[in-house]
Amino acid sequence: MIHSKNTKRKAALFCLDSMLDTNLPSWRQDLKSSRKKEGRSPSNRWIQLATVSEDNEPRLRTVVFRGWYKDSSMIIFTDRRSEKIGHFKSNPNAEILWFFLKTKSQYRFKGKINELIDNKNYWDTLSEKSKSSWFWGSPGERINPKVQSSYEIKFNLPKSENFVVLNFEIDSVDLLKLEHPIHRRYLWEKIKKWEKIEINP
Ligand SMILES: Cc1cc2nc3c(=O)[nH]c(=O)nc-3n(C[C@H](O)[C@H](O)[C@H](O)COP(=O)(O)O)c2cc1C
Repeated sequence: MIHSKNTKRKAALFCLDSMLDTNLPSWRQDLKSSRKKEGRSPSNRWIQLATVSEDNEPRLRTVVFRGWYKDSSMIIFTDRRSEKIGHFKSNPNAEILWFFLKTKSQYRFKGKINELIDNKNYWDTLSEKSKSSWFWGSPGERINPKVQSSYEIKFNLPKSENFVVLNFEIDSVDLLKLEHPIHRRYLWEKIKKWEKIEINP
């Protein structure tokens, strides 16, 4: 009897999950499937974030995808002292690239960056080791050998003022899949209610 109750609950949860999924932009389903096929390696969450510098030059770096904010915004953690902060303040336009080897799929997300001020919950998700890095020296500055000892793991750290949660709000998604015999390419735009259209690769 217990077994059948559990089975029913599982079926109901599965149903709810599918219903929630159907409300998401359809590119979220494609991305979910690419991530699933890629496996559970930490590198599955490494994405490339491009910003525009104050002097209008492109800047690119790897960051960790920390999850979704609403249906079509990505969360990224960073350090207030890093250069990208000045970039998005002078120009919020940014692009994220997420590549999946197993499915040979390249996702290019165009969007805008802003900072989430209410970030305490996100800080609480970090390990002590990760938290410590927000108390190290300024990223990009020359190492001062006299303060080397501060590069250690501390415990029960309060939220650092340098801890920043970025919210990358997606405006469009461009997916290129290298397939045989022909490659496929799709475009979704928020302004077009995320309608999926196929375009030339
Ligand atoms: C695998 C990997 C993951 C990284 N994850 C992050 C991250 O989540 N947030 C971040 O700010 N920097 C991350 N970095 C460091 C950035 O690539 C970059 O060096 C740093 O943010 C300074 O960039 P900026 O000077 O352009 O602001 C990561 C680097 C690597 C190699």
